[in-house]
Amino acid sequence: ELPQRVTIYEVGARDGLQNEEAIVPVEVKAEFLGRLADAGLTTIEATSFVHPKWVPQLADAARLLEITERRPGVNYPVLVPNERGLDRALESGVEEIAIFGSATETFARKNLNRSMDEQYAMFAPTVERALAAGLRVRAYLSMCFGDPWEGAVPVGQVVAAGRRLLEMGCYQLSLGDTIGVGTAGHVQELIAAFGGPSRLAVHFHDTYGQALANTLAALQSGVTTVDASAGGLGGCPYAESATGNLATEDLVWMLDGLGIEHGVDLDALVTTSVWMAERLGRPSPSRVVTARSPK
Ligand code: HMG
Ligand code: MG
Repeated sequence: ELPQRVTIYEVGARDGLQNEEAIVPVEVKAEFLGRLADAGLTTIEATSFVHPKWVPQLADAARLLEITERRPGVNYPVLVPNERGLDRALESGVEEIAIFGSATETFARKNLNRSMDEQYAMFAPTVERALAAGLRVRAYLSMCFGDPWEGAVPVGQVVAAGRRLLEMGCYQLSLGDTIGVGTAGHVQELIAAFGGPSRLAVHFHDTYGQALANTLAALQSGVTTVDASAGGLGGCPYAESATGNLATEDLVWMLDGLGIEHGVDLDALVTTSVWMAERLGRPSPSRVVTARSPK
């Protein structure tokens, strides 16, 4: 049975813009965050407090939060990998962070410069201090459905890694299909292997065109939080075969058809994605944005 309401966790400003070659001016990012809130999104991942050399696109994180008007009732989580990132996030008055682990050794090394054991050792004190400071902490887990270097990733390995992150005190675990290779049956198998949808969210990249089908499979398994990026922006700079996230507009269209509440104004969001595509100098890959854009 499908849920009555879904929480859309908007990642365009972070997962989207971190992967753009162009560095988007900070004022444009602030306007983007404002437009996303205007469109009704209430969870808007704003940026990352990672090493600026690793992701130069988001090096302006502190400045962005300084100039962005944070609306009441809207969450603005940020990515934080370590205690240095947490210090920076706290200075910016952040109320929610997300740590991001890997389900595979190779990607832990490439994305975090750590082994899997070392990633847990990096996250544990970060999460502990964040919780003590009253923050909410989410966890991502990457490469849950396949890894470009290691190939298939056993479901048991994913569950073991995900449990480690949840046990640190994270309120939610977002299952990342970083390179978009997952399919609907695999999604349901993985959620079942976690013992059901409790505290799980899904984060699909649309590389193989499966993101929407995978999302429907996750909803059928009882998941009620879905990550998506406006206009289908995004990817991950440390996994070459990754392309954009599930487009928020494509998700909204499907949820509307299913009669599932989400609170987002589709036309306002399409207008925003067209505006951002103009700033990036290339059209949105979202089918719904394309279909609903002025010709
Ligand atoms: P490292 O080089 O091992 O860092 O990188 P370190 O701990 O050895 O520190 C080296 C220097 O960096 C030190 O400075 C630190 O202070 C500084 P020094 O003493 O040499 O002057 N430093 C920092 N500076 C600013 N902010 C920080 C920070 N940390 C250390 N937070 C590190 C380790 C984790 C920092 C690095 O690997 C990193 O920043 N990685 C982030 C990569 C990233 O952001 N990837 C994209 C996000 S993940 C993703 O997109 C997947 C997702 O969407 C889900 C999915 O699709 O699967 C979430
Ligand atoms: Mg991602």
